[in-house]
Amino acid sequence: MSPGKPLILVTGGAGYIGSHTVLALKQAGYDVVILDNLVYGHRDLVENVLQAELVVGDTGDRALLDKLFNTHKISAVMHFSAYAYVGESVTNPAKYYRNNVLGTLTLLEAMLTASVKKFVFSSTCATYGIPQFMPLTEDHPQNPINPYGASKLMVERILSDFSAAYDFKSVCFRYFNAAGADPNGKLGEDHNPETHLIPLVLLTALGKREAISIFGTDYPTPDGTCIRDYIHVKDLADAHILGLEYLLKDGVSEFFNLGNGNGFSVRDVIETASIVTGRDIKVLERDRRPGDPPVLIGSSDKARKILGWLPQYSSLTEIVAHAWQWHQQRHR
Ligand code: UFG
Repeated sequence: MSPGKPLILVTGGAGYIGSHTVLALKQAGYDVVILDNLVYGHRDLVENVLQAELVVGDTGDRALLDKLFNTHKISAVMHFSAYAYVGESVTNPAKYYRNNVLGTLTLLEAMLTASVKKFVFSSTCATYGIPQFMPLTEDHPQNPINPYGASKLMVERILSDFSAAYDFKSVCFRYFNAAGADPNGKLGEDHNPETHLIPLVLLTALGKREAISIFGTDYPTPDGTCIRDYIHVKDLADAHILGLEYLLKDGVSEFFNLGNGNGFSVRDVIETASIVTGRDIKVLERDRRPGDPPVLIGSSDKARKILGWLPQYSSLTEIVAHAWQWHQQRHR
């Protein structure tokens, strides 16, 4: 720990979006301590790239949290750790409510006890459910259609109630489709199992998978495949720094969408990946995946206006190129 630098606790800092945010925090001059149970996080990235203190454990472990807050002078918490497989949340909701809701409540209670009152939360556009209008704005009704989205919405509600009842301030970021990798190639996406489109397409280009399946070609979209708003993970990380600084300057609790406001279809992504990689990518057309809305595009005007957020990497080509750089190196 260095004297004078605010110390930020980052849960899930060994994971995809968390690790990119830790890197951005360190570059912005903050000290960081990571809490991660390493179920999905990567120790090697923490040790070799982030070089941050790592505490291995769960957010639901109150004794561990009390010890952490007693031994570290933490200014704010950024909370990324969560289970995030939509399909699994439908078949095993208990796992999601226990970890994502109870784990977070335990963390929030430990924060109250330790008088740490600033919280940046990883939420999701999955809290909106089926869109009633587009682009989605923060005041769109929230009716999640799976337990993953419901678990994140429950935490948003808890945070609103904490703001009203205690001197506690939070920023919730509702991400659209996080994608890409650190532009310098140091970090990237490495889920196991992997379910997301861009890494699966790139693993196919690398020859690690036979083909990419397109889930549904009969959607009411121009090319029949689903459209999503892909947002570069570095832009997400930068938004978190702005959200943190907003809270440290006594901003009130707020909710923000984080997306580019542009939609790309599954076929657009595959075509871009074949151009970026220069490789043929075998495609299989499959049935729809249950629970996928045809189009999800967000408006992030509020984050631009209030936080001054300006995404730097909004081209799909750049997003895919950074992810490709990472995957080539990670799977050498
Ligand atoms: N897709 C395919 N083939 C694949 C994988 C995905 O066609 O092998 C399609 C999906 O059907 C979807 C699109 O590619 O239309 C994007 O799928 P992802 O799984 O990459 O992302 P999602 O939009 O399903 O999920 C993301 C986040 C979730 C979050 C959700 C909110 O990963 O955490 O957005 O809608 F809940």
